[in-house]
Amino acid sequence: MKPSINPTRAALLKYDIRALAVIADKLKALGADIWAWENIGDPIKQGHVVPDWIKQILQKVAADNANWGYSPTEGLLATREFIAKEANDSGLPLDKNDIVFTSGLGHGINTLYQVTAGSGCRAIQPAPAYPAHSSSEAFFAGQPPIFYRCDPRDNWQPDLNDLEKKLRTHPEIGFILMILPNNPASVCYSDEILRGAAGLARKYGLGIISDETYLKLVYKNQKQTSLAKIMAQGEPFPLIIMKSCSKDIPWPGGRAGWLEFYNLGHDQNFTEFEETIKQSLRVQVCSTTMVQAALPKIYGDPRYEAHLKKFIAKLEEQSAYISDELNSLPSISCVRGQAAFYLSAVFRENTLKPGQTLLIENPKVKAYIESLVKEPGLALDKRFALYLMAAKGIFLTPLSSFEGPLGFRVTTLKTSLAETKKVYGALKRAIAEYLGS
Ligand SMILES: Cc1ncc(COP(=O)(O)O)c(C=O)c1O
Repeated sequence: MKPSINPTRAALLKYDIRALAVIADKLKALGADIWAWENIGDPIKQGHVVPDWIKQILQKVAADNANWGYSPTEGLLATREFIAKEANDSGLPLDKNDIVFTSGLGHGINTLYQVTAGSGCRAIQPAPAYPAHSSSEAFFAGQPPIFYRCDPRDNWQPDLNDLEKKLRTHPEIGFILMILPNNPASVCYSDEILRGAAGLARKYGLGIISDETYLKLVYKNQKQTSLAKIMAQGEPFPLIIMKSCSKDIPWPGGRAGWLEFYNLGHDQNFTEFEETIKQSLRVQVCSTTMVQAALPKIYGDPRYEAHLKKFIAKLEEQSAYISDELNSLPSISCVRGQAAFYLSAVFRENTLKPGQTLLIENPKVKAYIESLVKEPGLALDKRFALYLMAAKGIFLTPLSSFEGPLGFRVTTLKTSLAETKKVYGALKRAIAEYLGS
């Protein structure tokens, strides 16, 4: 077949959270025992059980024949009315006609950047980045991603000076992406930072894309304001809020996410942009009808708040334990989580070095890993992650895969603290062994 079917820009498609899982599966086939999967943000996979009342809602939804058909591309009207009312009740000016459903937010992210790339418009990304954003934006643009820095010494808050510097030097930027609360560090962004970013959007005539997938998963005594609230307090600017049911029900297999368009200034370009996104989604038909039909019944159920509270308390307990454990190592610094279910741990300077290893007893596993770590330019934290997986059976994602400093991201999704203690006891011993090798 013609070689031209393989675009050179394919190299821009990176999603190590899953790409490393392919390596983990290969290691398993070679006889490695991968027993701790700390890579992926899937609460169900980690043992969280969806309550029976939610499953019963879905049974009722499935019993209605209408829910087996297509839905409008924008999403079921009743569901969009529910979402708009929830937003309006909390003071946000959202119209039901400015919501559009996608098949999981990952699909919404992809569709959005396909459209921005069509006009050469770029969306600047936070670093560390969530690769579904940075990688798909770059792929459609056919150019490496443009990043602004989030500072681990400042609780991973966006560095607004760096952001403004990039806005000045990259006139092709049309949108600023923010992820709040953030993945991969699970921190909340302060109102001051959000107002600063909003100020930059106004100053440079830009829009903001705010991925608020984790907005409902904020720990006790922490606060995360939606960017829609910040925007509504001043001069409006084009704003897209992204949501998903994957994490806060949690229902990652439901594959339903949605985009909310806020355009109070009635910017004509942005109105046309929203229409192009809808048009692009019409070509792809519609999102999952049954899930959409269930969402208002789940989110609107009087039992939802208590369910969410219990889920958050579990996440917070795990997160606090893990960050304390990691911070007890002199080689690691880990900002405490304030929401969601990740932690980003950073190796202190000069602790990772080329040539460090862990003992791998299985010769086939050893040979395979040694072939992988030969890759020129391999990041030192990826080398660590590969050895860790092969020698100790612990699978975590290197932070360089999120365009962050050398370190790793873990999830805080275990349901039992005893299990977590086992994983982090083993991880701490492995880090000491690797750094001392
Ligand atoms: C910040 C963020 N946005 C979007 C997504 C994608 O969510 P979905 O499952 O709806 O595709 C994720 C998934 O981990 C995420 O962390």
